Amino acid sequence: MSGMPEPSIDEVFEGCKQVLEKNKKDSFTIPAEGLYPHQWLWDSCFIAIGLAEYDLPRAKKELQSLLRGQWSNGMLPHMIFAKGDSHKRDRDIWQSWRSPYAPDKLSTSGFTQPPMLAEAIVRIGEKMKIRDRRSWYQDMYPALLAYHQWLYSERDPHKEGLILLIHPWESGLDNSPPWIDQLHLQEKPWWVKLVEKTNIDKVVMFFRRDTLHVPPGQRISNIDALLYFHIIQRLKRKNWDIDKILSRSHFSFQDLTFNCILVRANQHMIDIAKTIGHELPEDLKENFKKTEDSLETLWDGFYKQYYSRAFITHKLVKEGSIASLMPLYAGSISKERALELVKTLKSSKQFGTEYPVPSVPVSSSWYKEFGYWQGPTWINTNWLIADGLDRYGFKEEADNIRSKSIKAVTKHGPYEYFSAKSGEPAGAKNFSWSAALIINMIANQKSGSKK
Ligand code: SER
Repeated sequence: MSGMPEPSIDEVFEGCKQVLEKNKKDSFTIPAEGLYPHQWLWDSCFIAIGLAEYDLPRAKKELQSLLRGQWSNGMLPHMIFAKGDSHKRDRDIWQSWRSPYAPDKLSTSGFTQPPMLAEAIVRIGEKMKIRDRRSWYQDMYPALLAYHQWLYSERDPHKEGLILLIHPWESGLDNSPPWIDQLHLQEKPWWVKLVEKTNIDKVVMFFRRDTLHVPPGQRISNIDALLYFHIIQRLKRKNWDIDKILSRSHFSFQDLTFNCILVRANQHMIDIAKTIGHELPEDLKENFKKTEDSLETLWDGFYKQYYSRAFITHKLVKEGSIASLMPLYAGSISKERALELVKTLKSSKQFGTEYPVPSVPVSSSWYKEFGYWQGPTWINTNWLIADGLDRYGFKEEADNIRSKSIKAVTKHGPYEYFSAKSGEPAGAKNFSWSAALIINMIANQKSGSKK
């Protein structure tokens, strides 16, 4: 971009709108052309939050379109596959039709992603007059209720209040260090060992879509990609049946980010139910309370941080990652603990970089400047953390995160992620949730400055 004048804030806003226009497919928005040709769950929620700033009907459609994929047991799958012959291979890998709960007319993945739906519903609702809001909430409520009920009935088998995940992709932070650390503790299947030993893992590259579009150094390793694929095969062989999956001590994780997003989603659900005069089921309300209480069991007094927990060993996985800051978004932790997290956010050894917030603390041995979820700054996690900081009254810190996010996108466009040190872009170009959330940040900056 050298020599080119920087675009104005209005031009950045327009440019982000154009990205969402380009990525529009019938009723939904793909995350990025080529690399991500399907509909993703939490992507669509972030996208709807941006769309709500200028096109409410399309924002509503984005979320309604997600409900096409809902399983009859309430699960919202993390991906809904695009139709057409060119995507047959993706659909065949998952074979969602093996589950009796999967929808008949389309193919989906077999597991979920962070429960951002309630937040997106509310962000859209806030833009409406009360009568329209009520009818919007009424339309979305049954699916949302079924989803949260499914989370507790299937993914909290010991009634601990914390949801367990069965694949790293469910966390949204696909290959974040705590997950990879746990993955590497598992016995590798013989065929992955063979690939590793014979050094033929480069062949895997031919089967990967991501490395066709993004330099391999910015993505997960071939061996880890094979291990992820292996987990999908295991889950598929159990026909996506959670009882069968868990009966074999399957790799499972009480993920911090997911559960923090759930705490916030539950708070939103209470408001949604109240707005439309619905009484939430008693057992669900008890579960909501339990989740907030149980989040505190993930606190480590020595490191003064929250961590995810391995479900089977019940041990905290003490690897630093951006998940540690997500309790700010949950909003249920005490102000004292929030202050401890803000200290790590600002520490130059951890998350206090020029373009915050890195997905892994800079002092961590895992840190890679451009490594997928292992170092770079992402706009969606920035949005979540800034939102939490606002609610705890850390306005300056929240504004700093938002203005640096806008700065990176102003310089380079809405890429998938950015170096936390220099702001250099990486990953997919024209990435929808970066565009959408920057639209939201700019719109709020403008409305804030008018006040
Ligand atoms: N990799 C993506 C996701 O997990 C698509 O943006 O949501």
